[in-house]
Amino acid sequence: MTLITMDQAKSFVNEEVTIKAWVTNKRSSGRIAFLQLRDGKAFFQGIVLKAEVGEELFEAAKHLTQETSLTVTGIVQEDNRSNLGYELLVKNFEVIGESQDYPITPKDHGTDFLMDHRHLWLRSSRQHAIMVIRNEIIRATYEFYNNEGFIKIDPPILTGSAPEGTTELFKTEYFDEEAYLSQSGQLYMEAAASAFGKVFSFGPTFRAEKSKTRRHLIEFWMMEPEMANYDHEMSLQLQEHYVAFIVRNVIDHCELALKTLDRNIEQLEKYTQLPYPRIEYTDAIELLNKNGFDDIKWGDDFGSPHETFIASQYEQPIFIINYAKDIKPFYMKINPADPRTVLCADMIAPEGYGEIIGGSERENNYDIMKANIEKFGLDLDAYKWYLDLCQYGSVPHSGFGMGLERCVAWISGIDHIRESSPFPRLLNRLYP
Ligand code: 4AD
Ligand code: MG
Repeated sequence: MTLITMDQAKSFVNEEVTIKAWVTNKRSSGRIAFLQLRDGKAFFQGIVLKAEVGEELFEAAKHLTQETSLTVTGIVQEDNRSNLGYELLVKNFEVIGESQDYPITPKDHGTDFLMDHRHLWLRSSRQHAIMVIRNEIIRATYEFYNNEGFIKIDPPILTGSAPEGTTELFKTEYFDEEAYLSQSGQLYMEAAASAFGKVFSFGPTFRAEKSKTRRHLIEFWMMEPEMANYDHEMSLQLQEHYVAFIVRNVIDHCELALKTLDRNIEQLEKYTQLPYPRIEYTDAIELLNKNGFDDIKWGDDFGSPHETFIASQYEQPIFIINYAKDIKPFYMKINPADPRTVLCADMIAPEGYGEIIGGSERENNYDIMKANIEKFGLDLDAYKWYLDLCQYGSVPHSGFGMGLERCVAWISGIDHIRESSPFPRLLNRLYP
């Protein structure tokens, strides 16, 4: 018995193989049944011929219900009509687990229903394709940073600091102390950068955001590189190379998934072209005002319609650089060319997906950092360790954070961020 998964079909054409599969759908006529099967790796068709398997097994095939699990044996055949390109001529099968009244049927279901059944919805070909792309982005991220000489460092998830402001914190008890779930590992990564030079983290982060948008999750995964002796320009170049690398790898390694999602590959190819355009925050405000957005002025932060409009002027992801300092966190370095602004950038994805990366050069002057912490109303005691970094051999350094799910949603071309996480945590949704 040769046990395979159907993604390996190419190497087994005209051979007999055994596959562990689930039935996603079926149709049959008098002498032939078509089983739609999935084996975790691929979606494919199994053909059952009465003449081949005999009366009894044929009847059993006709009565298989959706999501019944099977051990199937058959011959791999080429099949040019399917995305996969291969099907299975079934010789025999055995039921492993029955499935009665599977709730997600081939008809259309509303989003709430599907979200309530997320644990089952994950089995669909569309969700499968999105998770394959997510996995490739993660894989390519490790490859990229390893190639660039970074070391992965894991910041803590329970912390006493709040790098991205105190309004969106998840508070919890830490014995007798108050603690928060991490919003960002950045401050710890800054410490690590002075120990290892170039570091990156990849882990879950939490924001108690009361916003119900198609871009916001309560729990999301962030990749956070931090580089000692990098100015902001060097960081911008790293960011665009990283994003182009991810897109390249998804195009090259996720062909089937992109096909399943009907993603326009030509469009994705444009995102591998470097450099990405840049626009100054100040110029972006002017551009918006000239184009009828009179709800925003210098010093305000962008809302998603603003970001979408600015990005729509270009064909690639863009950087909006040097934001007004009052709308950015305490750790960003003042822009010497215009001290009303900071040396930072948001990378805005095309096609309305909004900000996928936020990054900056970091302040490394002790007096300025201390004053910033006080000005932002943060507790100096909780940041004493962070201030130490400014005191012992501090160097210019920069870093950024990329939201994994935003990136998945963008590259997959899906409408809503909820489908980019296997079990998304959303406002008012903790189940399943
Ligand atoms: O711009 P943010 O808040 O930046 C930071 O946290 C920095 N400390 C990162 C750093 O410099 N090391 O978040 C970074 C990215 C955003 O660009 C976005 O992609 C994602 O994290 N993000 C979210 N994704 C999903 N849901 C949310 N609620 C998100 N908030 C931020
Ligand atoms: Mg941001």
